[in-house]
Amino acid sequence: MFWLILLFFIFTKVSYSADHYTFKNCSRVDFCNTLRNRVPSDDYTLDATSITLSSDNKTLTARLKSSDNRSDLNLTLNGLQQNTFRLKITEVDSSRYELQDVLDGVPTPLSFGTIETGANSVTITTSDSNFVILNYSPFNIEFIKNGVTEIIFNGNQLSLEINNATSPFTFGVTFPQAVQLYGLHEHCETLALKNTSLNGTDPYRLKNSDVGYYEIESPMALYGAVPVLYGHGINATEGVFLHNAAEQWIETTNNPLGSSHAYFIVETGTLDLFVLLGPTPKEVVRQYTALTGRAPVPPLWSLGYHQSRYSYESQDIVANISSNFDDNNFQLDAIWLDIDYTDGFKYFTWNYTTFSDPVSLQRILASTNKKLVTIIDPHIKVEKGYSVYDRALANDFFVKNPNGSVFQGPCWPGTSSYIDFLNPAARNYYSSLYSYDNFPNSTSTISGIWNDMNEPSVFDNSLEMTLPGDSRHNGNVKHREIHNIYGYLQTMATYHGLLDRDNHQRRPFILTRSHFAGSQRYAAHWTGDNQADWSYLHAAFQGCLTANILGLVFCGADVGGFFNNPSNELMERWYQAGAWLPFFRAHSSKDTKRREPYLLPEESQTVIREAIQTRYKHLPVWYTLFYEHRRTGDPIIRPLFYQYPEERAAYKIDNQVLVGTDILVRAVYGTNVTEVDVYFPAGENEVWVSATSDDVRAGTGLTTIAVVREYSPIYYKRGAIITRKDTIRSNTVEMEKDCHTLYYTANEDGTAHGTIYLDDGISFKYRDQSDFKYISIDIDSTHISFTTLDGSGDYEFVVEKIVRRDIVSLPKNGTPGSYKETILTRDADGELLKNIKTTVIKLK
Ligand code: GLC
Repeated sequence: MFWLILLFFIFTKVSYSADHYTFKNCSRVDFCNTLRNRVPSDDYTLDATSITLSSDNKTLTARLKSSDNRSDLNLTLNGLQQNTFRLKITEVDSSRYELQDVLDGVPTPLSFGTIETGANSVTITTSDSNFVILNYSPFNIEFIKNGVTEIIFNGNQLSLEINNATSPFTFGVTFPQAVQLYGLHEHCETLALKNTSLNGTDPYRLKNSDVGYYEIESPMALYGAVPVLYGHGINATEGVFLHNAAEQWIETTNNPLGSSHAYFIVETGTLDLFVLLGPTPKEVVRQYTALTGRAPVPPLWSLGYHQSRYSYESQDIVANISSNFDDNNFQLDAIWLDIDYTDGFKYFTWNYTTFSDPVSLQRILASTNKKLVTIIDPHIKVEKGYSVYDRALANDFFVKNPNGSVFQGPCWPGTSSYIDFLNPAARNYYSSLYSYDNFPNSTSTISGIWNDMNEPSVFDNSLEMTLPGDSRHNGNVKHREIHNIYGYLQTMATYHGLLDRDNHQRRPFILTRSHFAGSQRYAAHWTGDNQADWSYLHAAFQGCLTANILGLVFCGADVGGFFNNPSNELMERWYQAGAWLPFFRAHSSKDTKRREPYLLPEESQTVIREAIQTRYKHLPVWYTLFYEHRRTGDPIIRPLFYQYPEERAAYKIDNQVLVGTDILVRAVYGTNVTEVDVYFPAGENEVWVSATSDDVRAGTGLTTIAVVREYSPIYYKRGAIITRKDTIRSNTVEMEKDCHTLYYTANEDGTAHGTIYLDDGISFKYRDQSDFKYISIDIDSTHISFTTLDGSGDYEFVVEKIVRRDIVSLPKNGTPGSYKETILTRDADGELLKNIKTTVIKLK
């Protein structure tokens, strides 16, 4: 019977649209249904006599009195660095769960400046001249920057309730300057959030869920949760981050006249809100990533191309794929093993029937500088004698039922228990499993780990496919309090496991499906089980753009689509698009046809080979952007609104990305597409130069561009220096010693600028010993110069070629311009462009 039920669950997982019965909408979730339509009412009044400033001037507290006999509330406000505030509101005698482990360090409060208590409000200033006005009755809070009210915390939407099972709360936030809202990852949704209060749709739900066959443009919760919302308008960009990992629903209303609004409905936990005053997209993203951290510089190999499938079922198949990639001249850095490499889905084991000698497989891959990535899920098969299980059970490391017994639920291996990652000791145990001793037959060729099913997924529809809210974690914490960080905590344990495994000498690479605010510190993520359909190709750009402005920069999507069989044309276009997302991996489901690129018709192979080569040629660009992200928090790929905040016509554009500031790429999706609209930003004077033809465009907005089969539209910004490695090799390791080629089109005054980051690609010396070089490259009409901006590593920046693209005619009134290419190489004496030690070189 059990197997029948399991088959049923597995079967329901593969229906062809999302299962709306299993995954509830708001009306079927009690707290959402009750609170969604709560009529705003001024239940709370700020008690002026209660306002207190702590003796160090850093914390303001006040009491909110309830008009209807509810508990009084405590309000705490801190001003933090970088135009950020932290606001907490709890019952006076609160026993609400306070989230741990998420912030990147404890934010330090700054001293407030002046405090003026008036008859109706109290006004406080911060040392960086922000104002906060707390109005007593009706109670609300205005956050003011540069004299502009950027955020209003609406008192009339504030409610905190204590029920038997949960303690839901609500609040509203108005963004007076904003015409468009963004954020609230993860949904399969447009970059620009919709008005959820219209057309009978649900609010955006954040409850990490393993949704099979998720749908396009939907507020349904997906695998991850980042409760960050940005409001954006021409005059200001601001944001809020709700530091709370419980289920939540957010009603969003964009207002084209300003005052866009959001109403948060949260199941439980603490109302702990960070308020970010921007006032530009760049600053607001930096403010947010200052709180939850930035992605480390990834191992260089992880920026190459990855080949995966559910599953490559034997070591011979894997070895064969490796040699086929080489024989057919497809570049490749890693092959991935999905769950079938294990013995009965027992992680940290091997199926020795199909993988009889895993070490020799790893040797084969290593001999051509390829890596292996293996999947490790968080559910543990319940089986006596399976030591991972036995030891976790003996040490009390599993999630429990309310009665204290260990929770068991079905997943890939059948009955499973779930590691309690909230427990630091359980995390340490889990970390230790990755050691070479504990993971038998693992060698350093297993350079990455894939943490999947970590929402966590439990194949039980009656539980919405996850752990029940009242199951228990360490300290008797209810699962519902921390649901959305379960996957985050797993990746934290994996990260430390890989660090320890390699004596802290190698950068871990982890891919995770579930994630939370701050996951960028530990793992890359991908958009889960998408489909082989044009709409999901577009969704990959949408999802990764949103992720990138929320700190989760290392994002990608299954190239080709996980479910179903893509046409050759879809495969070609998807590789062209996927090559321009930070994480670049093809993956496919069991019941699809094998589709490694060399299996496709010759013409498709040619197109895909070119797309992968384009990725590898731009490797220095990607690597430099990751380093710059770590320095600043800036996204790797950016939506137009982020880079050009005043360009209102571009606020909703999400089928093109800016890679850094200088490369613009438009995804092509649809059959037989011969032209697409590309949005060129920033007006007449910004000039965009095609990377693949002599086309030159001005930044005058939407422009129809002819599309060829061989390339998606790729444009470089005039004035930028794009540093590439153009020699074709098999993978990133083999490119290490290759020289660079610089591409540029000079500004009208003859100048161009770029940066390049160099380090050893694998260790932490860049972080611990300043063993790197970060260089500014500057060109004027006669010279090129290289200036070290940071780092003291001994890295030579060897330029072998400069490709100068001189504008022949500028675009005018919709007519494209053109350019002429001149290639500069070394001088006759071989000295020109030799290396970074020559800091100024005359250009011929
Ligand atoms: C999940 C993952 C998918 C993986 C499969 C088997 O559906 O999202 O990528 O292939 O599980 O492990």
